[in-house]
Amino acid sequence: MNPLETSISPSVLDHISDPDLLRKSSFVRGEWSATGPKFDVTNPTTGKVVACVSGSNVSDAKSAIFAAQAALQEWRKLHAKARSHLLRAWFELIEEHAEDLAKILSAEQGKPLREARSEVTYGGSFVEWYAEESKRLNGELLPAFETGRQLMALRQPIGVCAAITPWNFPIAMITRKVAPALAAGCTVIVKPAEQTPLSALALVELARRAGIPAGVFNVLAADGPSSVAIGRELCESPIVRHLSFTGSTAVGKLLMAQCAPTVKKLALELGGNAPFIVFDDADLPSAVAGAIASKFRNAGQTCVCANRIYVQTGLHDAFLSLLVQEVKKLKMGNPFEAETTIGPLIDADSALKVQRFVDDAVSQGATAVTGGTPEAGTFYPPTVLQNVNERMLCMREETFGPLAPISRFDTEEDVIRLANAGDSGLAAYVYTKDIARIFRIAETLECGMLGVNASLISSEHVPFGGIKQSGLGREGGRVGLDEYTEIKYLCLGGL
Ligand code: SIN
Repeated sequence: MNPLETSISPSVLDHISDPDLLRKSSFVRGEWSATGPKFDVTNPTTGKVVACVSGSNVSDAKSAIFAAQAALQEWRKLHAKARSHLLRAWFELIEEHAEDLAKILSAEQGKPLREARSEVTYGGSFVEWYAEESKRLNGELLPAFETGRQLMALRQPIGVCAAITPWNFPIAMITRKVAPALAAGCTVIVKPAEQTPLSALALVELARRAGIPAGVFNVLAADGPSSVAIGRELCESPIVRHLSFTGSTAVGKLLMAQCAPTVKKLALELGGNAPFIVFDDADLPSAVAGAIASKFRNAGQTCVCANRIYVQTGLHDAFLSLLVQEVKKLKMGNPFEAETTIGPLIDADSALKVQRFVDDAVSQGATAVTGGTPEAGTFYPPTVLQNVNERMLCMREETFGPLAPISRFDTEEDVIRLANAGDSGLAAYVYTKDIARIFRIAETLECGMLGVNASLISSEHVPFGGIKQSGLGREGGRVGLDEYTEIKYLCLGGL
């Protein structure tokens, strides 16, 4: 056992069949090492320490950057098929250890085990998909503009990449960035959220077992203050050519500013405020089921989740009544219990934020039809508010919690104007059977992703991302690979 690997709570160890997946220090240049402050990872359900991790500092970040730079030369030269085989081996190990990964994820993040299992499958799907896609990283032959010339566009890896990843999807948000980067021939340094480093460390342990060479995939686990310093180092380093970040718009803007002096390529998946629009002609049970799935997945801690729900007057009362009936069936509790559908929020501050949004709405005339009163600590009950308006915080800002505000609207024009107000433009959802309206709305709604009569729309092969202040670039699918490549124009003359 590595001496850096200190305490670990037996309660989590009890649930893990391969204890070597529980790594507790950073992984740089193929070694488990860290020289920064130790920090505790706590279980949001119990508040108990899951593991004490030896954290990284700026000097570890510099080592990781140099390690990734050194490894780049060999990795980019590797044949696409060889990189594909290594990614495939990593994917197979993720599948093989899916149950352990789900338990680690659930213990440090708090989502119900059944959702954690889905996330592992979702996370693994990016690795599988980019293992295949790495074999199709084609350039282009272009028509010559003079005789005796051949023109081509080469596709090359961008180089050393950094990824700063969030706690709400501690596995999938890493694989969605790392798999295309590795497939393209880039090397990567991941700085996972301080709340959820164990999933990241388990993933890199599996990548190591798969044979991904030292320095190609590095993970810097760190506490909050060290994370800020490491983030700055990754942004400011001229060696790092790409930064991918998933998190809040405020932090995204800060990272963008820190990356400006080195003119880094950026992929930013930032905050959303998704409108969920239900027209009179919608299929009611399907709209309600869609709203529940979108709103309460991961206890509402999802960038793409329905944040504000608009229902046309004719269906409003029936929708509200069925929604409340279904919300009351949700079971809040311990993520490890089979019947639990809503776990805790990531920390007590997140629960306080939901309560602040509820109080703000109620003080302006809204009423809580169900929920609306806080539980102890990190838990907040699924809550439905009615009589909300656009001045309320819950309609203007991302709640990131299990709060569903329901607003009534009359016309298509009204709801489009409301939906497009504000600076965010990540996801949106519409329920209607009117095909002409679907096309009208698809063109006019300001968002990067639109679900029509569908609310769970993410997949490894589709482009995920937002417009306006919800971010830059796309992850997933073919465009997700483009993020990690650059085009070099080659003009061969004298032929
Ligand atoms: C996110 O919250 O950013 C990720 C959600 C998803 O990939 O579906």
